Amino acid sequence: MQRKRTVPFYVFTVFTSILVLILLFQLLMKTLLLPPSISEPNQELKDYHVVLISEEVDNDYWRLMEQGARELEKSTKLLVEYRGPQRSNLDEQMKIMDMAIAAQVDGIVVQALNEDEFTPLIDKAVNKGIPVITIDADAPKSKRSAYVGTDNYLSGWEAGKALAQDTNGQAVVGIITGSLTSSHMQQRVQGFKDATATYKGISIVAIEESNITRIEAEEKTNKILTEYEEITAFFGTSALDGLGIQAAIERFGKKDDIYIIAFDVLPQTIELLQAGEIHAVVAQEPFEMGKRGMELVLDVLQGKTVVEINYTRTNIIRKSDIQQELNGESR
Ligand code: BGC
Repeated sequence: MQRKRTVPFYVFTVFTSILVLILLFQLLMKTLLLPPSISEPNQELKDYHVVLISEEVDNDYWRLMEQGARELEKSTKLLVEYRGPQRSNLDEQMKIMDMAIAAQVDGIVVQALNEDEFTPLIDKAVNKGIPVITIDADAPKSKRSAYVGTDNYLSGWEAGKALAQDTNGQAVVGIITGSLTSSHMQQRVQGFKDATATYKGISIVAIEESNITRIEAEEKTNKILTEYEEITAFFGTSALDGLGIQAAIERFGKKDDIYIIAFDVLPQTIELLQAGEIHAVVAQEPFEMGKRGMELVLDVLQGKTVVEINYTRTNIIRKSDIQQELNGESR
């Protein structure tokens, strides 16, 4: 005999089915909307999405800059996205910036690798209401709000003076530069040339580019050493050049005869300075640049007036200065 189903029975069945459906729906949504990155849950708390665009994403120098930017991200309403080409490449770097403009991010902090190429792109962003801060390399004729980074001409000039002092004004110099076409590298080389021009005993006989890689710096040093036996000194203008120069000189068996002045205080460079295989280093402040860059873009976004040129510190470090420099780093 079939039992008669009561009204409460139907109510109960409908109610449980709805509940089960709601629970299933919630579970499904949770799975579909799972955050793609750990930073996402904070995104709701962040007011501004800012992109930091580097010359080379995994370069140690740029990772320090990213750390500085992240330091500020922790305590502010900024959400920092760090981007850059895998290998230094002007077109790719510009494409990344173009994509950031298309995505209508709130602000862009970018290295203007080449002033002329970047100026129209920076202006495009600003015309669309996206403030731009240049970092590490400037585009002074663009509509960027501010620049933060080294005074690149001065840093090259300081390197030239240091070399002159350490070699008693007697040197036949080869230069390895990150790039012959990047504006800030050209400024460093020009500063170096101007500072050494007054020393009769100093001549610059060769200049080659490393494309900011250690390997190419080594290859080009090899080339120069083969072509110019009389070389007594090298100047490396970007962060990994010193390492390449030192490796090539060692292979040539000229380690005790050639003076090296390099750029940037990355750990390996400090080790070589300590070992007396690199003689002087021009220290920049990438961490500080990243932090200041974010502070500046935040100020602009909040309608505050910013100082246009913000030079970070550069100084020459020799073996005797290492400890002091390391203490300074732990700021
Ligand atoms: C420069 C950066 C460059 C880096 C390459 C630094 O000295 O300031 O522009 O990307 O070297 O390693």
